Amino acid sequence: MKKMNRRQFMANTGAAAGGALLLGSASVKAATRSSKRLRVALVGTGVRGCSLWGRNLVENYSDYVQMVGLCDHNPGRVNYAKQYIGCDCPVFTDLEELVRKQKPETLIVTTEDSAHHKIIVRGLELGCNIITEKPLTIDEKKAQAIIDAERKSGKNVIVTFNYRYPPYRAKIKELLMQGLVGEITSAEFQYYLSDGHLAEYMRRWHGEACRGGTLWVHKGTHHFDMANWFIDSEPKEVFAYATLERFGSNGAFRGKSCRNCAHSGKCAYFWDITKKEHLYNLYTKNEQYDGYVRDNCVFRHQIDIFSKHSAVIKYANGVYLNYSLTGDSDYEGYWIAFNGTRGRLEARIEGFGSKEYNELVFIPNSRFSDKPAQIIKAEHQPGGHWGGDPIMLDKIFVHPDKPDPLGQQAGVRDGVMSILIGIAARTSVYTGKPVNIADLTDLTPMAKRPVKS
Ligand SMILES: NC(=O)c1ccc[n+]([C@@H]2O[C@H](COP(=O)([O-])OP(=O)(O)OC[C@H]3O[C@@H](n4cnc5c(N)ncnc54)[C@H](O)[C@@H]3O)[C@@H](O)[C@H]2O)c1
Repeated sequence: MKKMNRRQFMANTGAAAGGALLLGSASVKAATRSSKRLRVALVGTGVRGCSLWGRNLVENYSDYVQMVGLCDHNPGRVNYAKQYIGCDCPVFTDLEELVRKQKPETLIVTTEDSAHHKIIVRGLELGCNIITEKPLTIDEKKAQAIIDAERKSGKNVIVTFNYRYPPYRAKIKELLMQGLVGEITSAEFQYYLSDGHLAEYMRRWHGEACRGGTLWVHKGTHHFDMANWFIDSEPKEVFAYATLERFGSNGAFRGKSCRNCAHSGKCAYFWDITKKEHLYNLYTKNEQYDGYVRDNCVFRHQIDIFSKHSAVIKYANGVYLNYSLTGDSDYEGYWIAFNGTRGRLEARIEGFGSKEYNELVFIPNSRFSDKPAQIIKAEHQPGGHWGGDPIMLDKIFVHPDKPDPLGQQAGVRDGVMSILIGIAARTSVYTGKPVNIADLTDLTPMAKRPVKS
C-alpha cells in the first residue's frame, strides 16, 4: 500500500511543481523528485535533528527517503549524530559543499531558530526544496527574505507544524469546519508550561531573544499557527504584555554551567547532564568546537526572554483571541475555547499523552438549541504528539498527493502568519503599543486564510 502510493507520488510530483504559488497549503506545490527515493540532507544535527528527522527517518522511512548528507557547523556533533542516526552518508560543516557534492533534492532544516532563514534562503537558491522545523524564522526581515526567496526559486517550503496533526486537534478543526459553533466571534487560548519545561528553555539558547525570538516566537509559533488554522483567518493587530520573573538576572547567584557551579547544592534548577548519556555525547563532549553549553545557567545575565505572556490578537475576520503563555503553575497543558454564533466549543488538554483520548465540550447557544451540553470524545493515536508526528511524516514522505481536506500541511504563508503574531507581540511589549501585522512584511492579512482552490 505504502509502495503504491510512493510510485503514484513519483509519477505525479514533477507535473505539479510547475504551478507553484505562495499559498498557505504546501501541497499546492508538490516537490519535483527525480530519483527513486527522495534524496534528503539534514542541516542541524542537534537533539531534534538526530531523533525525529534522523534516526526515525532512517529506521522507518528508508523505502521512501535516502539520507544523503548530514550538516552541522559543529564537526564533533555531526560525527556523533551520524553514529547515533545509523546512516552511512558523508558529513559536512559547510552547506555549499554538502549541496554541491551530494545534490539533495530536499534540505531538512533543524538548526537553532536564528539560523533557519540562512539555510532556507541559500537552500532555495541552490535549487533544493525545504522542509523546516518551526519557527520558520525569528523576525520580520528574515521572514521577508524567505518569502522573496521562495517566490524567486519556484521551489517548495514545508513548515512542519506537527501540532496540527494529533487526531484530537483534527477533530476540533473538523467540528469548526462543519460549523458546530456557527461563525466564530472570539476565542481563548491559555497555554501552561511546567516549571521544568520553562527551565529547559532558560537553560538553552532559547533564553536569548536573538537566538530563539523569545517564547512569543519559539513556542508561540505552534499556538498561533493552531489558532490561525482553527479560526481560519489571518491576524491583523496584536497588543501584548510580558515580563521575566525568577530567571536570568532575577536569580541571587549564577555559575558557568551546572557541571561547574559552586551553587549546585542549593540551586532548585540544578540539572546533571553527566547522567544523560545521549545529551552528554551530543553537546558536552563537543563544547570545545562552538562553546554550546547545554547545561547553561538559568540565572545567566544574557537571558532576555519572558516567562509570563499575555496578548490580544484581532483577526482580519473580526475574531478576538485572548492568549496567554505562562510557567507560573507547575502544570503542562492548555485550555482552548471558541465562542460562536451557535455555541461554544471547549477543549482542555493536559498531561501530554497521559490519557487515551481528550474530551471536547460543546455548549449550544440556547436561542438555537434546547439540547444540553455535549461531551465529544476525541481519541489519540500511537506515536509522538498523540499520534500526530507519524501522520505528518507519512503525509510528507509516503503519500504527498493524498488529499488534505483539513489543510494540515503548512507552507511559507502559514509559517509567516504564525510568527508575525509572536513578533508583533514582542514588539508591542517593547513599545507599549499595538502592532499592525500588515506593516511587518508584504503579505496582507486575509479575512479567510488562502488555501488551494
Ligand atoms: N516541532 C517541535 O515540536 C520541535 C521540538 C523540538 C525542536 N524543534 C525545533 O527544531 C530545531 C532544532 O532544535 P534542537 O532542540 O534540536 O536544537 P539544538 O540546539 O539541539 O540543535 C540545533 C543544531 O543546529 C546547529 N546549528 C546552529 N546553527 C547552525 C548553522 N548555521 N549551520 C549548521 N548547523 C547549525 C547546532 O550546532 C546544533 O547542533 C529548532 O528550530 C526547534 O525550534 C521543534
